[in-house]
Formats: sequence, structure tokens, C-alpha cells
Amino acid sequence: MKRALVPGTFDPITEGHLDIIRRASQIFDEVIVAVAASPNKGGRSRLFSLEERVVLAEQSIEDIPNARVESFDELLVTFARRMGANVVVKGLRAITDFEYEFQMTAMNYDIDSSIETVFIMSPPKYMYLSSSIVREVASLGGPFREFVSEPVYRALRRKFASS
Ligand code: COA
Repeated sequence: MKRALVPGTFDPITEGHLDIIRRASQIFDEVIVAVAASPNKGGRSRLFSLEERVVLAEQSIEDIPNARVESFDELLVTFARRMGANVVVKGLRAITDFEYEFQMTAMNYDIDSSIETVFIMSPPKYMYLSSSIVREVASLGGPFREFVSEPVYRALRRKFASS
């Protein structure tokens, strides 16, 4: 049984993430979407709480039978080992992702070389997509339906309708 982790902050999960998760689910027997608690990455606060991010990810992957969602608040490699996964899948978008991903992969390898990181390239449509771009367009009332699942679309509309 080959089990892979697809980790991220998922604030919120987008079609770009879902594309990577779907493709990973065709390569591996089981995929765990690992939602990081990451309370204040880079000093930025989260739009969605950890619980909301988990529920939105669960609702968005309902059609992928061999994928499930877990949250974590520890080192990625420690969590991967605990989940019995020895592969971490990350999406690579534009070339600007490379340096940062390279650094994280090198550090993870240093901590535990038994966990392999595999990269899947994002298709052109999602190369420049990010959760913060979706959040920004949603907050300004712009069109973003095609970049997120229906549950995320509704959640973002609700969030910004009440703010
Ligand atoms: N499609 C669309 N957007 C994508 C994407 C894709 N395929 N892949 C990444 N992104 C975007 C995200 O939406 C996010 O956008 P934002 O910053 O605008 O919100 C951005 O890229 C960064 O993604 P994020 O999910 O925050 O991932 P990350 O690459 O920063 O890593 C963890 C997050 C959880 C994997 C990493 O912090 C981690 O491993 N944490 C655990 C602690 C640990 O082990 N630390 C040591 C690591 S060396």
C-alpha cells in the first residue's frame, strides 16, 4: 500500500490544490490531505480556522474515493511517519516556487531521509493561482468561481458578505 501526503495550509483549498490531489490519487493507493495548523505563517493571520479549512477540504475531495483529510501541528516528516506515509507530494507552479520548495525538501530530507518528496507540475491554468489571490478577489467582489469548489465558493461568499 503506497500512501502519500499532500500537505498545505489550504486557506482555503483551491482547484489548483485539487488538481494536484486528484493526480496524486491516481498514482498512489491512498492520499492524505494534510492540513497544517500553521497559526501565523509569516505573521499573517488565517482567514479560515483550522476546523473550517479541514471541513472545506473534506467537502472538496468528496469525489476522490482514496483521499482523506487530516490536520497536523508538528513537523511534516514526523506526521508523515506517524501516518505511515513515506511520500510527500507537492505541486510546483511557476519557477518562483522552486527555490522555496527546494529549501523545504532539503530540510525535510535532512530531518528524515526515508520520506521522499515528489513534485507534480501544475497545469498552466493554475500556475499563478494561490489561496491569497482567491481570498483577495473574493473580498473585492470579483469573479473566482472557477478557481474553487462549490463549498469553498459558498464559504468565501459568506465570509465576505458578513465583513
Ligand atoms: N495550487 C494553488 N495554490 C497553491 C498550490 C497549488 N498547487 N500549491 C501551493 N499553493 C499556494 C497556496 O495556496 C499558498 O498560497 P498563499 O500563500 O497565497 O495563501 C502558497 O502556495 C503556499 O502554500 P502553503 O500551503 O502555505 O504551503 P507551503 O509550501 O508554504 O508549505 C507546509 C506548507 C504545511 C507544507 C509547511 O509549512 C510544513 O511542512 N509545515 C510543517 C512544519 C515543518 O515541518 N516545517 C519544516 C519544513 S522544512
